[in-house]
Amino acid sequence: MINRFRLIGIMGVIGILVACQQPGTPKSQYDTSTSVKMDSATFAGKVDGKDVHLYELKNKNGVQAYFTNFGARIVGLWVPDKDGNLCDVVLGFTKAADYHNPKEPYFGTIVGPFGNRIAKGTFKLDGQTYNLPINNGVNTLHGGFKGVHFANWSVKSSDESSITFAYTLADKAEGFPGNIAMEVTYTLNDQNELMISYQAQSDKKTVINLTNHAYFNLNGEGSGTILDHQMQIFADRFTPVDSTLIPTGELKQVQGSAFDFTSVKTIGQDINADDQQLTYGKGYDHNFVLSKQTEGEWYKAAHVVGDKSGIVMDILTQEPGIQFYSGNFMNELVQLKNGTKDSFRTGFCLEPQHFPDSPNQPSFPSTELNPGQVYQTKSLYRFSVK
Ligand code: BGC
Repeated sequence: MINRFRLIGIMGVIGILVACQQPGTPKSQYDTSTSVKMDSATFAGKVDGKDVHLYELKNKNGVQAYFTNFGARIVGLWVPDKDGNLCDVVLGFTKAADYHNPKEPYFGTIVGPFGNRIAKGTFKLDGQTYNLPINNGVNTLHGGFKGVHFANWSVKSSDESSITFAYTLADKAEGFPGNIAMEVTYTLNDQNELMISYQAQSDKKTVINLTNHAYFNLNGEGSGTILDHQMQIFADRFTPVDSTLIPTGELKQVQGSAFDFTSVKTIGQDINADDQQLTYGKGYDHNFVLSKQTEGEWYKAAHVVGDKSGIVMDILTQEPGIQFYSGNFMNELVQLKNGTKDSFRTGFCLEPQHFPDSPNQPSFPSTELNPGQVYQTKSLYRFSVK
């Protein structure tokens, strides 16, 4: 059983873990982080009057994934580096209450019911206009002020290798039509793969675009910028945006531009190129249109290597796009698990999803969900070393 009760015991024994380090082993050369203390007793608390807990999944290789019901978030993910030491590759907090903060940049959370932006917070369905909270300049971002990221999800089920969180967003609560019942299942297997499965149903026609907003640093949380990470994105095109980061509708070829990640390059290689799109995003903050190179039932989305840790993350998905955000708005507003701040570009997000503003863009793949239909999608994060 993976639940919080077992966790109390485990964390009591482990006590203090150091990023990228197994207890008792020397720090890796690249590791500049300080000690991380994460235990369920410290983490747990009440948010909005409801209990929030820490949950753990562990596989036979020692990979440890931590979650909370607040936002159905990933709060820690310890994977082996090239020397076999465990490294926490996602950014987050040691306490549940720290996640309930408007300055908190969606660490590890599920965003929805419509992740990413909707232009001017409005869209039409069957001739009816719906207005959403405007929380990002002139637009709606990640479902509004509360969305599902500041919601207390319940634990629907759990076993040795998976945990399912559930939450129903009430009709019009964030402006979206329908009582939208959502479920997110995290599954960790012995191939060091973390799969996220999403499901949703609504009693009225609505729009849906769920994704996870984890910030990764494959050299370890708090170990510096992500600019030397090597990255490949399996996309020949991306969706250029206007100055408010709403897609123009064009699907633009990446070839010959800073957006060409079709072969491996560092995140930082072209990030300062003279390109209006990079000016608008203050770096990369764009949706890439996946070229649909398949691997079994999956589309290959991205391949990333931590330059110091040798940790490799491959993302596979069933979604048509992936938002690559290079942490451009990170500005030392919060304190991470290991005591460092969320400094500029010390984490990156790769969010498998439908394209931003799809409800207003008829040429994009549809994000509509009808009553009686079941929305289902999944993404896989595979960890290995190089
Ligand atoms: C968006 C960024 C935004 C960030 C917030 C990303 O998904 O693309 O523009 O600043 O979320 O953390």
